[in-house]
Amino acid sequence: MISRDDATWMRRAVELGARGTRDVRPNPLVGCVIVQDGQEIASGWHAKVGGPHAEAAALAELAGQAPGATAYVTLEPCAHFGRTPPCAQALVHAGIARVVIGALDPNPQAAGGVATLRAAGVEVVTGVEEEACRALAEVFLTRMERGRPLVQAKLAMTLDGRIAAKDGTSRWISGPEARRRVHLWRAEAEAVLTGSGTAQVDDPTLDVRDVDDPSTASQPLRVVLDRRLRLDPESRLADTARQRTLVFVDDPVVLATDRARALRDRGVELVCLVAGTAPTVGDVDGSWLTDVLRALAARGVHHVLAEAGPGLTSALLRQDLVDRLDLFIAPKLLGAGVPVVGDLGVASLDQALQWRLDGTERLGDDVLLTLRPRRTVSNIHRNSPFGQSPAR
Ligand SMILES: NC(=O)c1ccc[n+]([C@@H]2O[C@H](COP(=O)([O-])OP(=O)(O)OC[C@H]3O[C@@H](n4cnc5c(N)ncnc54)[C@H](OP(=O)(O)O)[C@@H]3O)[C@@H](O)[C@H]2O)c1
Repeated sequence: MISRDDATWMRRAVELGARGTRDVRPNPLVGCVIVQDGQEIASGWHAKVGGPHAEAAALAELAGQAPGATAYVTLEPCAHFGRTPPCAQALVHAGIARVVIGALDPNPQAAGGVATLRAAGVEVVTGVEEEACRALAEVFLTRMERGRPLVQAKLAMTLDGRIAAKDGTSRWISGPEARRRVHLWRAEAEAVLTGSGTAQVDDPTLDVRDVDDPSTASQPLRVVLDRRLRLDPESRLADTARQRTLVFVDDPVVLATDRARALRDRGVELVCLVAGTAPTVGDVDGSWLTDVLRALAARGVHHVLAEAGPGLTSALLRQDLVDRLDLFIAPKLLGAGVPVVGDLGVASLDQALQWRLDGTERLGDDVLLTLRPRRTVSNIHRNSPFGQSPAR
């Protein structure tokens, strides 16, 4: 039976899990609280791949013993020996009487925790604060369920939905606080993705600068989707290619051009991915963008921050490749200008792409909306072979 306090304790577990960083990848962010007689007696979170899981970290505070207590865990406890022993067994051995779980683990290697617990006579409740628990583990779940990195799209628009003025200028629509947040996201992602349009018009560097200590921040791979290879060898992305700039083209002919040579000379890596050459897995769409994302996954990219204009962002949206949308709304009006997205193939209101509003925040004069797509289970690709991960 679900008690009223379950949601409250689970939200506390989510807060704890969020203390983890990208150091856990490819594992998920997970939090755990152990409660007895209405009091928190231990807590833990997964801090680093190879390190203790959240449940183990919490049980360690109790020397592995918590008879009769309830454990709140944001993700189903693992049932396998990976880098660490199975958490479901550890909970059983500790004498935990009840386990409340936020989200189930789709990883076939690790799943089965619920069955292990129930077989040992532990009461198990699932699906408590499930959306928040899935959002916490979204990088991991996207790889498991969709076979590709998480795509977080960021856009800054005016009150009238413009992302650039009539002349193409977009610097800066949002204020300094919003831009600082984007630098933190860049440091969280392994790759920042943009389109050739933005690369040409804005000449961005897409690196991490505006953080407390940029010298220690992880710099993301900068990725430009530029099928016709229009990137200027004198651009900042080429000039700073030692920080790793990767350009995807779709036509091998452009690789033999003077521009390609000039870009390579500057250290830019050019990758030709001909549309439709990557294998289709199950019912996963074999489109070029999906292939690009899989190619990035193969390079160890788990989280992509898309900072593109309406051309590429709309293409990602049309193909249901945006897992999280962060939209800054600035108190400005432009009237004429570039609309935030282009044609999404939507003809009538009932076909609108539906989003769940997961957060609102004021940053300086701007408002940040954090949105996630409302997907049905049927369009989640379960157990994709791309989703197999090293045992956690
Ligand atoms: N306010 C904001 O948040 C923000 C953010 C970024 C940009 N901007 C503004 O956006 C404007 C540029 O817009 P944009 O639409 O040209 O930029 P974009 O979306 O960054 O780039 C569009 C280009 O991406 C390439 N591309 C590669 N694969 C694609 C695919 N599968 N589908 C669609 N395009 C693909 C296409 O060029 P190829 O066909 O040559 O590959 C396309 O022309 C600028 O004014 C910039 O300042 C604003």
